[in-house]
Amino acid sequence: MTQPLLDMRGIVKSFSGVRALNGVSIQLARGEALSICGENGSGKSTLMKVLSGVWPHGSYEGEIFFEGNLVKAATIRDTEALGIVIIHQELALVKELSVLENIFLGNELGSFARLNDEEMHRRTSELLARVKLDVLPDTPIRDLGVGQQQLVEIAKALNKNVKLLILDEPTSSLTTTEIDILLNIVGELKQQGIACIYISHKLDEVLALSDWVTVIRDGDHIDTKSAADLTQNDIISMMVGRELDELFPREEHDIGDVVLRVKHATAKQAGAPRAQVDDVSFELRQGEILGIAGLIGSGRTELMQCLYGSYDGEYQAEIELEGQTVNIRSQRVALEAGIAMVPEDRKRHGIVPIMSVGRNITLSVLGQYSSWFGAVNEDKESHDINDYIAQLKVKTASADLSIKNLSGGNQQKAIIAKCLLTHPKILILDEPTRGIDVGAKYEIYKLMFALVKQGMSIIMVSSELSEVIGISDRVLVMHEGRLKGQFDHQGLTQEMIMNCAIKEGVANV
Ligand SMILES: Nc1ncnc2c1ncn2[C@@H]1O[C@H](COP(=O)(O)OP(=O)(O)OP(=O)(O)O)[C@@H](O)[C@H]1O
Ligand SMILES: [Mg+2]
Repeated sequence: MTQPLLDMRGIVKSFSGVRALNGVSIQLARGEALSICGENGSGKSTLMKVLSGVWPHGSYEGEIFFEGNLVKAATIRDTEALGIVIIHQELALVKELSVLENIFLGNELGSFARLNDEEMHRRTSELLARVKLDVLPDTPIRDLGVGQQQLVEIAKALNKNVKLLILDEPTSSLTTTEIDILLNIVGELKQQGIACIYISHKLDEVLALSDWVTVIRDGDHIDTKSAADLTQNDIISMMVGRELDELFPREEHDIGDVVLRVKHATAKQAGAPRAQVDDVSFELRQGEILGIAGLIGSGRTELMQCLYGSYDGEYQAEIELEGQTVNIRSQRVALEAGIAMVPEDRKRHGIVPIMSVGRNITLSVLGQYSSWFGAVNEDKESHDINDYIAQLKVKTASADLSIKNLSGGNQQKAIIAKCLLTHPKILILDEPTRGIDVGAKYEIYKLMFALVKQGMSIIMVSSELSEVIGISDRVLVMHEGRLKGQFDHQGLTQEMIMNCAIKEGVANV
């Protein structure tokens, strides 16, 4: 390589004495894409935070050279000035502001100072067209789904003078169509000489997009290889340190009577022209894993929110749980009735960032540990916490660490633990394995089968079609708020689901 664009040498980073990175080196030339692979908590995001100045110069060991110059960034502003732009794993848009305001936020003082409203509108429309997002510049961010927000983040990055774009799990919340758009965008950027660092647990994307693949395990640099010489299995073995021959551990289990009957579920935002959930009826059986597929915006999450009492608009549904009519108007009622949900947007609904990992896990059931005079039985609480941390292999230095310090995938595992502790009859998992590494996914699937064998019923919303097919007993497909198809998993293909999710026409229910 002639002078590389980026040269990170021997990066070491510790948190209170615990080493998250143990001497990692990467190099990258202009117009190249490098993927970083590794299990949850292996140090990928930390390495990118070092690179982008979130962790400032002096807080880590090792050196970073960009365009041949030693980088001594004090803040993320300093690296942005160099042309290094990072899109973080957890989205960081301001929900109350519009798409346009977010795109120009923090940028309005620089070279864009003299842009007038009209120009900003024009520029925003251009950027939105570039990321193929069909919304108006004035749309508030809170009205967009997670996937759409991700595209706004990318539009925002493109608005800066970017030389190296870092994408930390950008597609974990996108469906196939959006992923294709994103991969194309990265391809175009590469041709313009922009380099890209890509972090994803989806190894097909990693191979489709990158020139180089770096694998880290427990903070150690395992290897960097040309993507052309690697298969997905090669990467997995390097990541987990052993072969993993089976991705979906399907286990036989009995399916019993109908436990949940939902009739005419309808959900609508005040003043919206179209219902987000439009007269959906379905049944769930005991011990069944019901998959729900569909594009972003098809109403999957909103349908689940109706069952969990967390939809923030007008909604109705006739819900019968074990033969009893229930009126679920709040999460508390849902939990009491035996319905628990792992939400899609964990940052917004899932965790209390400043609380410890342990307290986040027991938060919904604290009453279980309190005596009649209000004292908390801490021994029992910590026993349960440690039990679930072990079962789900949540990687944390201690249960007392504040949860915001956990890697993205490990936060997700803690939220699943929190739901399981409520011992629900019906467990709703909205994108349960988003951002979770292949090894940990396997553990979560095994846990799901163990739970249905004990008689729990599971509804799983997922955009990963291989997972929907690999794990569900039956699959419902939604399209624009309506139930569009219903399939048994036997003989089901990704094409069948996609055709149903995309096409207008006669419903197959
Ligand atoms: N601010 C922090 N304080 C303490 N520990 C931290 C902090 N940030 C990260 N860690 C720890 O460093 C390790 C690496 O975390 P990192 O977020 O880099 O993992 P990752 O590879 O990005 O994982 P994932 O795939 O789950 O996103 C983890 O054990 C994590 O708990
Ligand atoms: Mg991460």
